[in-house]
Formats: sequence, C-alpha cells, structure tokens
Amino acid sequence: MKSHLKIIILIALSGCLLMLPSGCKKSDPRYRIGVAQCSDDEWRSRMNEEIRREMLFHDDAEVEIRSADDRNEKQIEDINYFIDNDFDLIITAPNEADAITPVIRKAHEKGIPVIIFDRNINGDSYTSYIELDNEGIGRAAAEYATHLAAGRPVRILEVRGLDGSTPAGERHRGFISEIARHDNISLAASVSGAWNGEKARLLVDSLLRRDANIDIIYAHNDVMAIAAAESARALGLNDIKILGTDAAPSLGIKAVRDSVIDATFIYPTEGGRVIRTAMAILKGEDFPRHDHIPALSPVDTTNAEILIRQDALLRDETTKIELLRSKNLMITARQQMQSYFLYAVGVAAILLMAGLMLTLWFMRQRKRLNMALAQKNEELSNERDHQDELYRQLDEATNSKLAFFTNVSHDLRTPLTLIAGPLAQLAKADYLKQEDKSLMKIANKNVEILRRLIDQILDFRRYQNGKTELHLEESDPIPLLSEWCDAFRDVAQNLKLKYSLNISPSDGKTMALDAEKLERVIFNLISNAFKYTSKGGCVGVEARLSDKELHISISDTGIGIPEKEREQIFDRFYQVNRVNANGSGIGLSLAKAFVELMGGEITLESEAGKGSIFHVTIPVHHVENKCALPTIYHDPNKWHFKEFDIDADDVFEFSESKALILVIDDNPDIRHLLSGLLGAEYNIISAPDGRAGLRLALKYVPDLVICDIMMPVMDGLEFCSSVKEERSTSHIPVLMLTACKLDEQRMQSYDSGADGFISKPFNTNLLISRVHNLLLNRKRIKNVLLDNDNVEFEKNGAPLPDDNERVKIESEFYRKFLYEVKERYTDSSLSVSEIASGLGLGATQLARKIKALTGLSPVDIIRDYRLREARRLVLVTEKNVSEIAYEVGFSSPPYLSKCFRDAFGESPTELRTRLKPTN
Ligand code: FRU
Repeated sequence: MKSHLKIIILIALSGCLLMLPSGCKKSDPRYRIGVAQCSDDEWRSRMNEEIRREMLFHDDAEVEIRSADDRNEKQIEDINYFIDNDFDLIITAPNEADAITPVIRKAHEKGIPVIIFDRNINGDSYTSYIELDNEGIGRAAAEYATHLAAGRPVRILEVRGLDGSTPAGERHRGFISEIARHDNISLAASVSGAWNGEKARLLVDSLLRRDANIDIIYAHNDVMAIAAAESARALGLNDIKILGTDAAPSLGIKAVRDSVIDATFIYPTEGGRVIRTAMAILKGEDFPRHDHIPALSPVDTTNAEILIRQDALLRDETTKIELLRSKNLMITARQQMQSYFLYAVGVAAILLMAGLMLTLWFMRQRKRLNMALAQKNEELSNERDHQDELYRQLDEATNSKLAFFTNVSHDLRTPLTLIAGPLAQLAKADYLKQEDKSLMKIANKNVEILRRLIDQILDFRRYQNGKTELHLEESDPIPLLSEWCDAFRDVAQNLKLKYSLNISPSDGKTMALDAEKLERVIFNLISNAFKYTSKGGCVGVEARLSDKELHISISDTGIGIPEKEREQIFDRFYQVNRVNANGSGIGLSLAKAFVELMGGEITLESEAGKGSIFHVTIPVHHVENKCALPTIYHDPNKWHFKEFDIDADDVFEFSESKALILVIDDNPDIRHLLSGLLGAEYNIISAPDGRAGLRLALKYVPDLVICDIMMPVMDGLEFCSSVKEERSTSHIPVLMLTACKLDEQRMQSYDSGADGFISKPFNTNLLISRVHNLLLNRKRIKNVLLDNDNVEFEKNGAPLPDDNERVKIESEFYRKFLYEVKERYTDSSLSVSEIASGLGLGATQLARKIKALTGLSPVDIIRDYRLREARRLVLVTEKNVSEIAYEVGFSSPPYLSKCFRDAFGESPTELRTRLKPTN
C-alpha cells in the first residue's frame, strides 16, 4: 500500500478514536450490594423503598433485594447466592439468629463485608451492626401501658415476635423490665405470634375466650396488633387497649388514626442509613462498627394524622425527587444519545472525508494508470502496426522473391532445355578427350540439378497458389520407395557416407498415392540428409506400410538442427547453418506442403551436433479404380561424379615452370571444373574445406588460392585470415569464389585479407583473367622488391615505397631476409636453411616464398649479393681476386670469376683493368 493511503486510513482511525464521547467510558456500577431481608411486609417495604431511594445517589453501586418470606432456608439460600456471585457487600436482617449465623460467618470469613441490622446474629462475625433499640421499644410500650392504667390495676397480654429472632427477646426484656417496676401492672400472658398476624389472631382469640379479663394487649408488631384487635372486637371486648409496634404509616399509623389500635411505637426503618454505611465500607471510609439507633416516641391518635400527612408529603417529595431523577436520567440519556449521535456524525464525517480523499487518490491513480496504459497501448499498437508492416513487407518481399523466382524459373526453363539437349548430344561425341568428357558430365549433372530446382520453385508456387492437385492412383508405395532410395547408393558411396535402407515388405498392400509427389518428398529429405552429413556419417531410411498409414523416416548423423530453428526448418528459403548450405531452402517446405496435401504430417526429431530424423506419416486411403503403377524414371548416373582432390599428406609433383594454384571448394564439381579450366596453364591442387586447404597452403606455398566462402569444417574467411597471418603464406593472393552476393560477405572477405572476389556463377573468362591479373600483380611486387634503389639492407629501415599495404608487408619480410643475407654472406658455408630458421620458417617454405616474391631462389639472391659486394671491392680496394672471393663467401676464386663474368659480362680482373685509373 502506498504511504499516503496509509496516512489517510490513519487519520480516519485516529479521528474516530478522538471522537469517542466521554459517556462511553461509563462502565457498569462498580459495587454490587445484596440485601437479604427475612420477610416482606409494610415495614420492610418501607425500608426497601428507602434503600432504593438512597441508591439513586450512588451511581457506582447497585443493589439487589431478596426476601426470605420468614423462612430460614430461603434466607440461607439468598445469602449464598450473594456469596457465590461475588457481591461486594451483603446487608441482612437475619430471620433467626441460630439458623442464619453460620452463613453470615461464611460470608464474613470470605472477606465479604456484612452489615447486620434490625435483627442480630450470634457472635460478631459482621462488619457493622446497626442495632435498633428493641429493649427501649419494649420499655416504651410498658411505660405507655402504665400511662393508660393511670394507677389502676391492669392485666396485659403480650404477643411476642418470633422467639429465635433477637428483637422479640429484646422487646420482651425491655417490656417486662419496665412493668416490673409498677405493681398495678401485671403480665397476664405472653405468647409468641412469631410476627405473624394470623397466628396472633388465633392465639389472642383462644386466650381471650379463656380469660377475658385483659386490659391491654401489647403486640411486638402492628400486623399482630391489628389481628389481636380484630380478635378482641370479634369477641365484643371493645375496651381492651391494643398497642402495636413498627408504626409503618400505611399500616400501623393508619390503624391508630382509624382507631383500630390505640398506639404503636416507631421502629425506625433507616434504609438510607444502612446504604450509606455500606458505601462507606466499600469505599474504605469511616463507618460505625456498632451503630445504635434509639427508639422514638409512641404514635397515638394525637399525632397519627400528622405523621400520615408528613409521610404523604415525604412520599410526594420522594416522587418528585424520583421524577427529577428520572428526568435527569432522561436528560443524561438524551445527552448521551446526542453525544453518540455527534460521535457517529463525526466518525461518518471523518470516514466520508477519508473516503473522499481515497476516492480522489484512486481516481488520480486510475487516471495515471489509464494514461500509462493508454501510452503503453499506443506503443503496443504502434509496435504491432510496425510488426504488421514488417510482416507485410517480409511477406511481400518473399512473395515478390518467389514471384521473381517463378518468372525467372519459367524464363530459365527454355534456355535450360536448349542447353541440356546439345550438352547431352555433345557428351556422346567420340572425339572428346577423357577430361572433356568428365567436364561434360559435370555440366550435364548441374543442368539436371538446375532443372530440379526450377521445378521445385514452380511446384512450390503452384502449391502456394492452390493449384497443386493430387493425382492419386492405387499403388504399392514400397517397391517405389525402394527404387527411389536405391538411387542414392552411389551418391552415398561418393560422399563416403554409410547409407542404410530398412524398407519392410508391403505384403501386397496398396494405397491411394500420388507417386510423383511422394518421390519429390523422399528425394528432398534424403538429399537434405546427405547435404548436412559429413564424411563417415550415416544416413538411414526406414519405411513400413500398415493398414492405416505409410510411415517413412529418414535419419542422419549430421549437424542436427538446434531447437530454436526446428520450427522454421520448413519455412520457405530457410536453411540451417547457412555456411554449409548449398540448396535453395525450398525443398523442405515443398516436402511438407506435399505431405500435408496427402493428408499426412511431417515431424522432426533432432539434436544439435548429433543428427536429425524426419518422420513422414501418410494415412492410407484407397481409390476405387486400381490403376497400374506409374513408371518412375530415374537415371542412376546423374549423381555420379569423381573426386579429384589430393590429400594434404600426399606428395604432389608439379611442373616448376608453371605457377601453383590451390583450389578450395566443398563442391567437387567446382573443384573439377576449375582444374579443367586452369589445369593447362597452371599446376592445380585442391581441397574440400578450409582446414585441408590450409594444410596444403602451408606445405606447398602456392602462388594463388581460389577459395569458396561457405564450406564445412573451416570456411573461406577463416582460411584466408589464417593464410594471411602465416609468415610463410602471407604473400599468397587469395581469390574468393562464392555463391553469396551479399555486400556484407564481400566486406568480410576483404577484411580477412582476400585479394579478389568472384561471384558464382562465374564467367570462366573473367575468372581466368582475374587469376592472371593477380599473378601479374605479384610480379609487380617482385619488381618493387628487386629494384636496387628500393632494397634496403637495414633490418629496421624505412618502408619501401609501395602501392598497397600488401607490398608493405611483403617488403618488410623481404628486408628481413636481405638483412640476414648481409649479416652472413661472408660465410662460405652459409645455407638457405640457416637463414630460414633465422626467420622462423622451413627452408622449402622460405625458398617458395622468396621465389613467389622475387622470382629468384634464396641461393640466387645470396650469390647476387656476394657478386655485387665483390664488384664493389674490385672497384674500391686493392685486394686480389682470391682475397675478395673469400671475403664475400665464395669458396673458390675461379668460381667467383665464372659467376662474375655471367653476371656482369666480364671477369673481376677485366673490370679492374678497364675502370682502374691508369697512372
Ligand atoms: C417485620 C418485623 C417487624 C418487627 C421487626 C423485628 O418483619 O416483624 O414487624 O418490628 O420485624 O425484626
């Protein structure tokens, strides 16, 4: 991803994070408080209300209130629930101390803070105990009874709460402790109503029935007091004063106001206080471990109404507060909603912006890419147009080439026929010498090749124009194949190739066959195999005819076809290794075209350097009318030719009076032809390739080389360079003879040091005249070298005046030779071998080279130098002939005199006498 894309995404994300509203940070309440109430009545409802109201002020805490419905098991279960659910604090009013103490201890030991209120447990396994003054309440009730008695003796029935719960015991204790102080007050009975109205109703009813002399009934709560009042009224005992406890406005105070009971004692609910203590504990603030809440004044008809109204007001206020609270909550919620909305809008805006930026970026990128693509497309399209144009031009060129060949071929046919006929006639003439006959044979053979090539071009053109038709006849291809292949045996023998045929018998099977075209195919493939296989290699033909197909394979151990060229091998004019090629390049295309015309295919297996196998497969079809086999004419002699080359190891005797010419060409006919043309005037030696030619050149140091360019093993260019680099042969003029007319090859020829260039087919007169000229040129160099004024006998003397670079090189060599002569001529035993080895050559090579350069032998030149020195000494010194003879290296004075006379027309003595001034 590009860096600016990353930046856009980063901006969007960080924007979203920044936009997060603070409200989002508000998590769930941190504290959970469990309240395990022992029962569910008016008093506890009021207390629970107070708890919930107080909780409104503590956002960081929540409360869950459970009621045990006066059952210990249920309360134990509720407390365990709080423990198991990891409540942060437990508040409880234990139903019965004995039963509930263990589970409270468990919570306490687990480290959960526990607040005990209203009812106590055994021991002090709690965090805080909010104690209500139950004894005080008992005492207040007794005081109120005393007040009611007003000194009269009264009998009181006490209805206690549940005995296992601590307030019941404490209230009882406070009550009896107070009445004990008053003699007129007696406790008629004390029964346990277990905080339960129905139970109290039954007990009171039963007791009053037995003992109606009761003045006051004191019940530990209002529920039991109202039930007791109802029991008494039911029995007609309307004067009994009824005292209750709790003073819940909706129950106890209401009962007092309605005169159901006479008084009740406020048992403070203190729900708010309990929660405040709990929050203090949870927040680690100070809290009372033992909070004692004192008892309050009694409620009777004097204050009941006020209290109810106060309670109503309080409730009203509470409602308002709660309304406010809920409104507040709504506002908060709305604010939160708004902030969420804002956040969402912000995020959306940022995302939109990022999206917009991204879209812009992508659009820009796309535009850029599109532009690049458009440019690329245009380039490609231009390239394609260019290629199309090239293909078109190529095709046009090929077609016009082919058209041209076709036209030329047509034009050539008539003259060719006119040449072939007379040639054939002439060849039979008795007066021809043996050499002339063999020349005629070459001419005949090449007329035949030319005719075949012309036919191939015309065939191919016909095929290209869709005018080739198959002339199918039902025939057995096997005998035909054998005949065509047999015809190549002589060729194989002449080329020194192994030629094997493996043609399976057809057992009388036949097929629809265009024998003429199949013959062309086979001829082309076998010729091709021979063409690319060198001496000692193998060419093999295999053929078999099945019910379904005719399969022919032609294999060779030739140069092979590199993989990259295999596809093009069947292209018209394409030739593998052009240096070694000597065909038109159309044969394989025609073979393929004909095979495909017959519904077959031609494939190639090849390995560069190892050889090739061409497979021809033609499906077997039949024609209804079986005709006789077509007669295939074949002249086995037309491929016959004789080799005239000599091997480099051979010793060749040649006439000293004639110049020696080396002919190098891989086509034996060309070698033979040149031998015939030049043999009368020159000594001729020949070689089939550059390497063999080089060996001959080094051995015989010819006066001229005529050399083909495209040849196997070593081509003409390499040969020419080697000859020119070699000191002993560098002077030899090389005339390049080639079928290639390309300027580039001409350039290469001259670059390699060639002295002349003649294109095939050549005009024989032109060739002979070029040979003459080149040899004449050599004579000119000779004259330059032999000109006395030009010959410097200094090893590093100034270059001779020359008309070309060649003269310069050769004069340099000649100067070195003369220097060697000058240095040693006084030595009468001096030999040519000595001088040759001083120049890094063999004696014969030096002799031939010096002879080629000067027309003189080294011995002649040494003698000539000695004689010229002798002449100088005769003229400028007084030395006698003997002295001079020995000084210039003649071993005998008479011999000097003889040579001197031969060279200068007079003896040394005669010269001295003639020119010496007379005194
Ligand atoms: C309510 C109650 C009250 C009484 C208190 C004693 O459940 O019975 O009437 O005053 O419990 O714990």
